[in-house]
Amino acid sequence: MTSTTATTAQAGAGGAPGAKKRPRTILGLTLNGREREDLIPDGLLLLDYLREVAGLTGTKQGCDGGECGACTVLVDDQPRLACSTLAVQVQGRRIETVEGLTEGGTMSPLQQAFHESLGAQCGFCTPGMITAAEALLRRNPDPSVEEIKTAMGGNLCRCTGYVKIIESVQVAAAARLTRKGGRS
Ligand code: FES
Ligand code: FES
Repeated sequence: MTSTTATTAQAGAGGAPGAKKRPRTILGLTLNGREREDLIPDGLLLLDYLREVAGLTGTKQGCDGGECGACTVLVDDQPRLACSTLAVQVQGRRIETVEGLTEGGTMSPLQQAFHESLGAQCGFCTPGMITAAEALLRRNPDPSVEEIKTAMGGNLCRCTGYVKIIESVQVAAAARLTRKGGRS
């Protein structure tokens, strides 16, 4: 990438006299492995940046803010609510959405586990569930049921009753460990 230095411009420059100036910033980040820069309003939510500027609609808005976890993305490997984060707050950071968690253009073992173990029904919560689970498995490759419940406690689901979601994470953990040779 060329530069991720934030520079503030004024929207409306050259516009109608007296028009209210809206601060804008050049946002530079790495999104799903690709560096990019966009001129955005300073008040733009990360959720809206991802969906409307970057065109990544996998990340969902399920509530008025901070309640459901459907908007969970990874920021430098840590789960974060995109509905409660300004895009300018992730300047220079590494962002991953559910789209970026695929492997070689196909579903990752975690995504496959949610599909095959019925961890997804309507699917609306699934991107946030998968991103939260991915964060968990990166820091704890073999979590207990209680650890899964704790890590995903901020992610709500109206359909599954959570049992199948927990099973999906366990199946994915086993598959990842087997792949790494950590479990026979
Ligand atoms: S949309 Fe519900 S917590 Fe972000
Ligand atoms: S699968 Fe429908 S909300 Fe979770």
